Amino acid sequence: MADKVENRIEELREKIRENDYKYYVLAEPSISDEEYDKLIKDLEKLEVENPQLVTPDSPTQRVGKDLTKDFKPVVHKVPMLSLANTYNEEELFDFDRRVHSGLPEGEKVEYVVEPKIDGASVSLNYVNGYLKTAATRGDGIVGEEITINVKTIKAVPLRLKNLKSNKYKLKDFEARGEIFMNVKDFLKLNKEREEQGEKLFANPRNSSAGTLKLQDPKIVAKRPLDIFLYMLVSTEEEFESQYENLKILKELGFKVNPEYILCKSIDEVLAACRKLEEKRESLEYEIDGAVIKVNSIRQQKILGSIAKAPRWAVAFKFKAKQAFTTLNKITWQVGRTGSVTPVAELEPVFLSGSTISRATLHNYDEIKRKDIREKDRVVIEKGGDVIPKVVAVVINERPKNSKPARPPDNCPVCSTPLYKPENEVAYYCENSECPAQIKGRLEHFAARGAMDIDGLGEALIDLFVEKGFLHTYADIYDLKERRDELIAIERLGEKSVYNLLRSIEESKRQPFEKALFAIGIRYVGAGAARKLADHFLSIDNLMKASEEEISKVHEIGPSISSSVKEFFSTEKNLKIIKRLIDHGLNFKTEKKAAVNSFFTGKTFVLTGTLANFSREEAAEKIMSLGGNVSSSVSKKTDYVLAGESAGSKLDKAKSLGVTILTEDEFLKQLNEN
Ligand code: IVH
Repeated sequence: MADKVENRIEELREKIRENDYKYYVLAEPSISDEEYDKLIKDLEKLEVENPQLVTPDSPTQRVGKDLTKDFKPVVHKVPMLSLANTYNEEELFDFDRRVHSGLPEGEKVEYVVEPKIDGASVSLNYVNGYLKTAATRGDGIVGEEITINVKTIKAVPLRLKNLKSNKYKLKDFEARGEIFMNVKDFLKLNKEREEQGEKLFANPRNSSAGTLKLQDPKIVAKRPLDIFLYMLVSTEEEFESQYENLKILKELGFKVNPEYILCKSIDEVLAACRKLEEKRESLEYEIDGAVIKVNSIRQQKILGSIAKAPRWAVAFKFKAKQAFTTLNKITWQVGRTGSVTPVAELEPVFLSGSTISRATLHNYDEIKRKDIREKDRVVIEKGGDVIPKVVAVVINERPKNSKPARPPDNCPVCSTPLYKPENEVAYYCENSECPAQIKGRLEHFAARGAMDIDGLGEALIDLFVEKGFLHTYADIYDLKERRDELIAIERLGEKSVYNLLRSIEESKRQPFEKALFAIGIRYVGAGAARKLADHFLSIDNLMKASEEEISKVHEIGPSISSSVKEFFSTEKNLKIIKRLIDHGLNFKTEKKAAVNSFFTGKTFVLTGTLANFSREEAAEKIMSLGGNVSSSVSKKTDYVLAGESAGSKLDKAKSLGVTILTEDEFLKQLNEN
């Protein structure tokens, strides 16, 4: 009897798996939706009755129930490299020359050209045929584990096809690729978000990357994510070529983009790139270029990598997509720091996946330089950046009575006269009580990279400021006292107020570096906040530090240090910070002193070019694990980390008998610590 149930369960799973494969990987469905739903229901029922038979790879386990607050770090077994870019024929031919000169003379080189999918890269680790973990690229060395979210993507096999007849030595390997969203699905998602008053995603890439970081896999499961795999990484099996790897990936049940082409010369590569560029508009997903890879894995190994990118592959970036439209009006927007920047209000025009009605004009100098005027016919462009820009004016279509644009004399929001510092291009509203600045500071504080308060977006902040509930960001933590007033607001209701207040309370757990970024000190971006937090460990220490001490922190310049000092010498700011501390925000870091790590207390000197890191990144890793980094070799040096073309420092290390680490040895220590 038990056997019978087990067999029936396995039979249902196999049918569902097969159908998922046909529907999501091959796009060739073979049963109706009703039949499919029935299979799932039958399986769910049997699994509820026999919970001991539920396995992690069962199709019912795609949507996990648990929420994740933190995504665990994963060290990639083989670093996830990025690609150098080329933009024209000449640069592509240079790449081909570099490839040939790196190989034994006279060797023939074949290339594979693939579309460069504009999504979020992911590495899937399969052990004994089952999906074990999925990780983001992160900084290439350490990514974040997003397995429960990736499992919701039906095109990702939870177990491999042809498992039993697997003829390859692939016990533990990674399949790498790109998670993306079709343009149509992305537009639909944005439309729904608009109807619900939620913030729109700028493009399919952002919506994929944002979705993968959601804490609730149930929401992820509802988002139309898809995947293409393009790389097979194994330390067990020696493969022949990229072309063969793509074939093996397909055999194992992965979805591989069908547009790849094998080329026998760089001329063929160029033709293939041009063909892909022509095809770009007719594809259902966004591509921003082509990727060219040396086909032979043997040759790839000879060529190796340098400065975070392989020498055997390159991206050929397509031209940014452009469109013509009319610039109806130039408006001036006041940011959270009071900077007043021009925005082009455009006649709406559709361009690569979205309708564009506004574009940045950067600053007044830029307007003057390009002589951009109201009512001009303009060319707009959407490149890799999120924000579209006006690139040129069609001068011969300019209306006769047009006049050059001028910046306003007064703040468009609070009418305070504007001020322009001599050495800056921006104009500023200096009234820190300007409503636009108040709203801007609140939005920045609540945003994803800062306190990450889910649900507290632009629209709600506007409303709360207008109602007088919010003035400074410390007021956010008093909103709980107004629960009844909030529930009474028509578009809110009990459930959303509950969720909002919960996210506000949860935000108190954000780490110090995020809180420091959130308070919006001018020039202190996310990176500077991290460096300051790592160095000073608490807001008290930072407040006590002199300007000179602050500017001594690695990569913290004089404008940041003087701005930090100024921020903390303003009475009003100090009062707000005190309220935040009283509310229990996290303004301290526990130093991650790696006890007895290989790096603890050791002094390192870095020299030469590393393949997987910049020198600064390697230095940061060493310091974060308790080591020190010095610029010159002496008897006190414990290790010299030597990359390619290391020079005199390496010689000196040898003469002093200092231990020399290769990049591989260094990576190994990073993995173990
Ligand atoms: S290969 C060592 N192939 O582009 C080779 N990357 O700019 C590394 N990408 O991080 C990647 N389509 O996220 C490769 N067919 C493709 C790709 C592709 C998109 C992304 C990937 C990578 C980025 C590099």
